[in-house]
Amino acid sequence: MLMICMRQLKVLGPEELRDKVCIIVGTRPGIIKFSPIIREIEKRNMPSFIIHTGQHYSYNMDKLFFDELSLPQPKHRVPNVSSARYHGKQTAKMLEGIEAALLKEKPRLVLVGGDANTNLAGALAARKLHICVGHIEAGLRSGDWRMPEEHNRVMIDHISDLLFAPTEESKRNLVEEKVEGKRFVTGNTIVDAIEQNVVIAKAKSKIKEELGLKRGNYFLLTLHREENIDFKENLVDILKGIKMVAKVSNFGIIFPIHPRTKKRLRYFKLNSLVNSIKKLKIIDPTGYLDFLALLESSSLVLTDSGGIQEESCILRIPCVTLRESTERPETVKVGSNAVAGTKPKTIMNNVKTMVNVNRSWKNPFGEDASRKIVDIIEKELAL
Ligand code: UD1
Ligand code: UDP
Repeated sequence: MLMICMRQLKVLGPEELRDKVCIIVGTRPGIIKFSPIIREIEKRNMPSFIIHTGQHYSYNMDKLFFDELSLPQPKHRVPNVSSARYHGKQTAKMLEGIEAALLKEKPRLVLVGGDANTNLAGALAARKLHICVGHIEAGLRSGDWRMPEEHNRVMIDHISDLLFAPTEESKRNLVEEKVEGKRFVTGNTIVDAIEQNVVIAKAKSKIKEELGLKRGNYFLLTLHREENIDFKENLVDILKGIKMVAKVSNFGIIFPIHPRTKKRLRYFKLNSLVNSIKKLKIIDPTGYLDFLALLESSSLVLTDSGGIQEESCILRIPCVTLRESTERPETVKVGSNAVAGTKPKTIMNNVKTMVNVNRSWKNPFGEDASRKIVDIIEKELAL
């Protein structure tokens, strides 16, 4: 009788949960940033499994990273997410799929990492089932309420039990917002990901030879954020800025293009503007090893990516951020990053300044974050 009542409940009781950790991935940066944690969990023989939300699905945004980082395959993949156009539908499909998998597996902890819709869906599914939620990269804030990522950061932090803030500054944001969960400062797992892969990247990657590049004779560009590329005027401004940069510098600009950006250039009929930028070389999104190889040898990176602001800081490559704000203010403070906005002249002026910047800054993202996070998990859950 008791068992029948239990099954009718909408939540999982503590006695139903099993001693295993669920890792939610679904986007390119999530897979990369979870890779050292997955390794650490495997090293300790901690029972775990992966749910893939299906948010990213093209080979070079998804499976490529599992292959080159030798990650275990996801046990569950949420189906049919790629067809969802709007945030609500995409998040809803992922939420439903994750919930179904969690009901089968009943893990004691769900880990999400970052600020993509994938992570909101994962945290919410677990929260509602009364499963403990751990948020890696907690406490980041851009203060820019146009960004879908900012909505997600705030919501995920407020429904998480364990908050793994990468820096003291991100922890302060959690304190100021009176976020409920337990707060820890652990550093950022991207430091581990770089450490584990940059040497391999230097040895194995052939991308620079293939593109005819030499250390320090090119800029790198990435662009995909909604507030930049889904608004034609912002996208045009950025492209004009890149054109000005290309005119005043001797360097080529390598642009591994995110599939979303490729689609927007076509939709807004901007391909002729792009083609008029003579030194711009568009390539497909690369794997992690090739990207690290490109980044660590570049003269400077222009980007709206969150992860690349961190990686460039760690690798001592100057960064010009093509956004109005950053949730990684530590990079600006140490001097590796300039937040340039999207206006053409400001972009060019920031490139001129940053390309000659002294690169002796210190990495503000700590070290050994993955080990620290897994230590905390073991202790908190007595796994
Ligand atoms: C998402 C995250 C963003 C993160 C980025 C990492 C949200 C709100 N945004 O943005 O924070 O920086 O991932 O790259 O969660 N597409 C493909 N193939 C893919 C993935 C996407 O073609 O594998 C195209 C599709 O047209 C898709 C569009 O890109 O509709 C946008 O994809 P989506 O996952 O919604 O957002 P991202 O821009 O990738
Ligand atoms: N990256 C990659 N190939 C590329 C572009 C980026 O492997 O062509 C990696 C990059 O090294 C970083 C991550 O993808 O670790 C950043 O992802 P993205 O910029 O898509 O998302 P964000 O960090 O902005 O959420």
